[in-house]
Amino acid sequence: MDKGAVWIMKYLSIKDAMKKGEGKVSVRGWVYRERGSSKIKFIVLRDATNIIQCVIAKQDVGEEKFAVADKLQIEASVELTGTIKADERAPTGYEILVKDFNVVGESHEFPIQKDQSVEFLADNRHLWLRSRKMTSIMKIRSTVFQAIDEYFKNEGFYEYHSPIFQSVQCEGGSTLFEVPYFGNKGVFLGQTWQLYAEPAIFALEKIYTISPSFRAEKSKTSRHLTEYWHAEMEAAWATFENIQDYGEALIKYVVKKVLEKNTEELKLLERDIEKLKPAAEKPFVRMTYDDALKILKEKCSLDIEWGKDLRTIEEDELSKLYDTFIIVTHYPKKVKAFYMKENNKNPEVVHGCDFIAPECYGEIIGGSERESDLEKIKEKLIEEGEKIEDYQFYLDTRKYGSVPHGGFGLGVERLIAWICKLDNIKDAIPFPRTMVRYVP
Ligand code: 4AD
Ligand code: MG
Repeated sequence: MDKGAVWIMKYLSIKDAMKKGEGKVSVRGWVYRERGSSKIKFIVLRDATNIIQCVIAKQDVGEEKFAVADKLQIEASVELTGTIKADERAPTGYEILVKDFNVVGESHEFPIQKDQSVEFLADNRHLWLRSRKMTSIMKIRSTVFQAIDEYFKNEGFYEYHSPIFQSVQCEGGSTLFEVPYFGNKGVFLGQTWQLYAEPAIFALEKIYTISPSFRAEKSKTSRHLTEYWHAEMEAAWATFENIQDYGEALIKYVVKKVLEKNTEELKLLERDIEKLKPAAEKPFVRMTYDDALKILKEKCSLDIEWGKDLRTIEEDELSKLYDTFIIVTHYPKKVKAFYMKENNKNPEVVHGCDFIAPECYGEIIGGSERESDLEKIKEKLIEEGEKIEDYQFYLDTRKYGSVPHGGFGLGVERLIAWICKLDNIKDAIPFPRTMVRYVP
């Protein structure tokens, strides 16, 4: 029996009913499809675990009950009892011959039928969540969250939480959401936990979170949400290599767990799992930004001027050259955030890295070793037009027993979008928020 099913002793999940395979079963769920004649009604019942064909014959349930069955509409909720048996012709290989049933909640012309526009499905997101596609993605999403949590707990990290209302920027002012806060200015939704996480490594040393982050992205790409879930870690004493190692091991762990637990869902999404395996099994490709430019020039005929950030097109071309993740390191200082550690030998580059997913899914992780030099941080902040006083709490971390440290942030929906090979990041989250979409 499924774990957690103790409270429904009488009812089996459809999955467990199929496991039983014969004899009397009771199941409950929602009408996924229905068709019928004057004597026999076929319904495909859906629950969280699977779908199953159920046959209601007039001669078995009687005239009166059959009339009720005949009126059943898509998405009505039903509980039923009958005899299960294997049947090759049935959509999932089993069929229940219904002896009795009960309509729990009627349904009235469920608005989602075949071939509806993306816009219509987005407006009816609350109903579209019931689709097999969304259900499969949400199950994979659940595995991903659990795996991230397990990975960090196994590695001895403490779970730690930053505020969401924050008084400073971390990833650039242009994507800050300012919120009205009792008439006060300068209160923003967090873009990252980072500036509030760094102070805590002096207490807990190794910390992580999975929390919403907010970006006022004025771009309508298939990779950007305004609200996304951010898995972040920060570790005292960590070197730049350690940060990359943690990121690689985390992604490997997550992909392995999905391959273990979600083969059915991946199949339903028609995901080629051979494309996922290299990320779980092979070492990630590591290259410096300089190497990346060289490879882009030689293999992709893309001539990028040194000092320019890698754009989507360059990341995509790079990703086409490998079957696993690429970690690009040592970016030019001027394209990266103020907190990234300057390289001792070459002050023009920083110890920052981006993890680029296979198959043109772009940057999944952004991370770095953190700058320890107080003056350098101040200089950068001033350059960015920030007021030093606002960052005093952060700057104090470098004043009292500073240690080498670093961390990264992983965009959970971006990872899910790649795992499921979604056309758009929006389907990786139940109710997506973008520049143009904030209802329902
Ligand atoms: O590269 P970013 O901006 O890095 C940070 O926020 C660091 N402070 C993290 C850290 O070191 N603790 O964001 C990290 C990741 C990106 O690699 C991307 O996967 C995701 O967050 N991300 C988004 N995902 C969806 N929609 C958006 N608008 C995103 N912006 C960033
Ligand atoms: Mg980034």
